Parts: sequence; C-alpha cells; structure tokens
Amino acid sequence: MPDASSYTGEPDVLFSEIILQNNRADPYLLYARLRETPVSRQRDGSYVVSSHAAIRSLIFDPRLSSEDLPPSRRPHTGNPLRDWFLNPIKNRIVTAHRPLIFRDPPDHDTLRRFVMRQFMVGRVNALREGIVREVDRLIDACRGRDRICLVNDFSYPLPVTVICELLGVPQADEPRFQVWATQLATAIEPDARHDEGGRHRTVAAFDEISAYMRDLIREKRRRPADDMLSGLAAPASAGGKRMGDFDLIATAVLLLVAGHETTVNLITNGMLQLLRHPHELERLRADPERAPRLIEELLRFDPPVHFRTRKALGAIEIAGETIPKGAPVILVFAAGNRDPARFPEPNRFDPDREDNQHFGFGGGLHYCIGAPLARIEAEIALVALSRRLVSPRLLQNPPPYRLGASLRGPQQLGIAIDGIQ
Ligand code: HEM
Repeated sequence: MPDASSYTGEPDVLFSEIILQNNRADPYLLYARLRETPVSRQRDGSYVVSSHAAIRSLIFDPRLSSEDLPPSRRPHTGNPLRDWFLNPIKNRIVTAHRPLIFRDPPDHDTLRRFVMRQFMVGRVNALREGIVREVDRLIDACRGRDRICLVNDFSYPLPVTVICELLGVPQADEPRFQVWATQLATAIEPDARHDEGGRHRTVAAFDEISAYMRDLIREKRRRPADDMLSGLAAPASAGGKRMGDFDLIATAVLLLVAGHETTVNLITNGMLQLLRHPHELERLRADPERAPRLIEELLRFDPPVHFRTRKALGAIEIAGETIPKGAPVILVFAAGNRDPARFPEPNRFDPDREDNQHFGFGGGLHYCIGAPLARIEAEIALVALSRRLVSPRLLQNPPPYRLGASLRGPQQLGIAIDGIQ
C-alpha cells in the first residue's frame, strides 16, 4: 500500500496520490511533501497551493473565481422533447443559479447578505438549549451498551437535527435527504469532475432535493414559522428585496448539505483526537472552559474540509510560479494548517496554542457562514462526551474513512465504554 514514506512519485502527480483512498487516514506527511513546492503545477494542468502564506494571499485574491463547478448536464433520454428542449433549459437554470458557495461577486455578496440576515446571532444562540437536550438524549440512548459507533449514534444525528430545526425542515424526511446530501457532497471532490455518471447522479439528486425544497418553501409561505426558510421566503418589505425563487431553492439546498457532513466530521475528528490524547480528554472533562480553544486546534489539526477548488480569472504570479488564466487552483487548507513556517510544531495537537489562524472555515469572501453554529455544537458535544462516557477506548485506530478527500472524516468510530454517567 503506498503511503507517504514509500512515496516515490513525481511532484506533478502528488495531489492525485493524496486523493487515493488508502492515503485518507493520514494525508499529512504527503501534505508536507506538497509544501516543498508551495504552488505546484500538476500534470492535469491544475495548480495545488499548500503553504499558509500562499493560501492566505490567494483566498483574498479577486482573480480567483469560485465558479469552478462543471456546467450541469443531464443524460440523454431518447425523448426529443426532453433532450432538446426541457433538459437544456433546466441545465441553464441550474448552472446560472448555483448555490452561493460556487458564485462570485456581485451575485455572491447579495445572496450571502440575505442568508447572514437570517443567521442573526440571536437565532443561533437560541438553539443552544435544544442542542444540550439533544446531546443528552443521544448519550442517554447509549445506556446499557459496552460499545458505540460515535458516527451513527451521535455525530451524525446531532447536526442533522440542529440544521433541520434551524431551517424548519421536518426531521422525519431526514432519510430522504441523507441520500441526496451524500450525493451532492461529491460535487466538490476532484474525481467528480471527470466522472460523467457521477455528475448525472448529482444533477438527479439536485433535481429531487430542489423539488422537495420548492414544496417546502411554498408551505412556509402559506404558514410562516420562526425558522430560516420562512425568513428567506417571506415577501420583501416595502422597498426591500428578496431572493429569487431559483436562488432561494439553491440556498436552502446548500445550507442543508453544508450543515450535514462537515459538523459530523468535526465532532468525530474531535473525539478521535481526544481518545488519541487521553490527557487532553481528562483536561477537558475537568475544565469545560477549555473547549473553545480545543475546537480551534481541531479545526487546524484535523479539519473537516481539506481543500477547495477555484479557477484563475487571469494570470497570477505567486511563489515563483505563474498560474495561467483558466487553470483550476486547489487551495489545500489542511496543508496550510500544518505549515511549520506559520505554526510552531505544527504536527503536535496542542489545544493550548494561542496564535491559531487556521483555514478550518476557509477565509475571505466565502468564509463559512455556519461557523458560529458549528462551534457551539462541537463545544456542547465534546464537553458532554468527555464527562459522560465512562472510560472510553478506541476500538480501531485509525478508523475506516469515507471516500471524500475534501470532505474528509471517519465512516465509523467504534468506542468501547464502561457505561454512561
Ligand atoms: C464544522 C463544521 C463546518 C466546517 C468545517 C465548514 C467549513 C466551511 C468552509 C471551509 C467553507 C469555505 C468554502 C470555500 O472557501 O469555498 C465553508 C463555507 C460555507 N459554509 Fe461551512 N462549514 C461547517 C459548517 C457549516 C454549517 C453548520 C453551515 C450551515 C448552517 C455552513 C454553511 C456554509 C455556507 C453557506 C458556506 C458558503 C459561504 C460562501 O460561499 O460565502 N457550514 N464552510
């Protein structure tokens, strides 16, 4: 099995090596190799950016576009009406009204402002009590067992319940959108752009989740509630504006998907690191005030989002390279987070770290909108798990990982316990 120590490949294929499934459990040594050339041209014409300084500079650079999503396309059906009329229209609509994470200014900024208005601090903080209750309920449900799977029993159901509550999406529909969300999340993986079948499945999932959201938004307009979807769908006040319907659907889908897998991975990665560093688990149990800094260190050390792709709108000179116009640019946040030029002893998990400007939530215009919510969820979850699981031990180290190289996290995390407190 190739790993970092046996790696002998050329630097211009290093990134394709990194995204192989057998490097998922520990890509960090390969990231160190990447940083030897902070901006590195790959054989497929993409540029991989891995040093903290270069990522930081590019993330604020308006010459990098986020519209780097292949245009939507549906498979041929043999029905001329569909193939030559309906589907091309649908493709144009979906491409023009991508979710805001794939949009550039000025549209991106307008859409983001609508969402930020709904994300007012009050609304996120109001979820706190419900999160504490849900965390306790999920842990209580593990009573009587001597082993649990943290992902299935805890880290997955928690963020899903919270995002449903925030948006006003019925929790009972979760099994349906779990399938759609998993398929849609593949859209940001590098393999996805070359996989025609996968792209068709992604468009099909987007069609289905969009139809679901369209009905839900209609219902919110008929019977508004105190939730984000009702707020986004509400008629504009006099002189004001509201989002167009296609953008509203794409935004609702983005929020539901973005709130799914990422927070699952933060909580799971968090518990994995605490079990690998039992001293830190003890310190957190004794002093829950340590949680905020611990979570920042997790977002640096083992983040849920490892990289994002952009496209160069013009030639960009950086770190001795010239990225040509049109080239895909991969910002490897997780490699920047371990850059020794920025962080002393970057490979040490150190929750006492003070100067911790990581890229766990990205940066610049597209900085994560859900960051305050994700931080609250992870804090409450890790503090409760550290206090209530009696003598937790890892059953498999490293655990099995899901396929995603960008959205990276364990598929399962088996933990043996001596009870629940
Ligand atoms: C631990 C959990 C999370 C992590 C690690 C995370 C990470 C990220 C990152 C790295 C980006 C930047 C993407 C880029 O630069 O292209 C981002 C953007 C975004 N995130 Fe999160 N996220 C998390 C949770 C959430 C949640 C809970 C929500 C929604 C409730 C959310 C909504 C968004 C949205 C809407 C964007 C796009 C912002 C824009 O394009 O302006 N995220 N997130």
